[in-house]
Amino acid sequence: MNKLITLSNKKKIQSNINEIILTAASRQNLVLEHSCRTGRCGVCKASVLSGDTKAIKEEVSLTDDEKEKGLILTCCRTAITDITLDIEDQAELANIEIKTLPCRVNKITKLNNDVLEVTLRTPPNNTLEYLPGQYIDVIGAKGLRRSYSIANAPRNDKKIILNIRKVENGEMSDYWFNQAKVNDLLRLEGPLGTFYLRDKAAQNLILIATGTGIAPIKAILEKLEQYETQQFKNIYLIWGGRTQQDIYWQPVFKNLLLKFIPVLSRAEDSWQGEKGYVQEIVLRNSINLTESIVYACGSDRMTQSAKLLLTQNGLNEKDFYSDAFVSSN
Ligand SMILES: Cc1cc2nc3c(=O)[nH]c(=O)nc-3n(C[C@H](O)[C@H](O)[C@H](O)COP(=O)(O)OP(=O)(O)OC[C@H]3O[C@@H](n4cnc5c(N)ncnc54)[C@H](O)[C@@H]3O)c2cc1C
Ligand code: FES
Repeated sequence: MNKLITLSNKKKIQSNINEIILTAASRQNLVLEHSCRTGRCGVCKASVLSGDTKAIKEEVSLTDDEKEKGLILTCCRTAITDITLDIEDQAELANIEIKTLPCRVNKITKLNNDVLEVTLRTPPNNTLEYLPGQYIDVIGAKGLRRSYSIANAPRNDKKIILNIRKVENGEMSDYWFNQAKVNDLLRLEGPLGTFYLRDKAAQNLILIATGTGIAPIKAILEKLEQYETQQFKNIYLIWGGRTQQDIYWQPVFKNLLLKFIPVLSRAEDSWQGEKGYVQEIVLRNSINLTESIVYACGSDRMTQSAKLLLTQNGLNEKDFYSDAFVSSN
């Protein structure tokens, strides 16, 4: 029998037997906060206020302590009784349709030894609507599917740009780096994820990224550049890599007063800039974290340790948004 899921804003979701909570919501055009959808990133954490749930997939990113406290991952669990959760849906995404579309490779540019910029084009009569910061799943030969953040805000020509890092022995990496050519036909599903700029004002906007985690941040900055008035007094962009070649893009924005801080963890002797990890650089700049909103994208190690460090230093947990580029298997 169907179970009823009630959110903290009183919205209700009907769930089928063994249906994942996140999927049930999406079927009813309600988007719950999420990123990886595989239990690995922890973004979809929720507290069960009443009722019972059952894990269908392993909740890899929940600690024993969090499980004891009644936290669940909505991308892994189903409701086995009527339940109440302490989360709301993301109203900004309710009218954005998730579609599967054919697309062609329009252009491939090498950004450094390990990163490609891939431009995709969709059919003129069937384009993708999305919020800057969201990601798509690219579906290649034999149904191989991988997630990639969109690196640009929506453009008039509707093209979609991805920044793709080579992963050692990676199946999709092998396609992108050894086989892909202009005009290849692929499919994409999207937009996915809830990493987008919230309509929330604060003194400081802190954008932190590692590696190709800069892609959705770049899309968010392109969107901010279009606003006439800024809801932030200061915007910090802190981008980390190992060596200088990892800083493969320079932000150039006319309307944004951006403080850009590139940081290297394995800096060459010639490097004059900051050294260390992005989250440490936030603290080193003595930014008032109680007056800040943070968006972090990159490895799960970075997003998790940034959340811990920054919330320990005054950031409200609700003002930390992240997307972690976890492995899909
Ligand atoms: C929401 C989301 C957005 C993403 N956006 C981007 C993006 O914009 N750009 C981008 O380059 N990548 C992005 N990724 C990662 C991407 O989806 C793939 O996981 C990655 O490209 C590897 O795919 P592959 O097929 O080459 O490797 P696979 O064949 O999947 O893996 C090969 C080996 O590498 C390990 N591995 C795979 N991925 C990683 C990883 N990220 N870190 C460490 N080890 C790994 C696997 O466990 C396996 O052992 C994103 C992931 C998520 C979940
Ligand atoms: S753990 Fe559920 S979306 Fe990542």
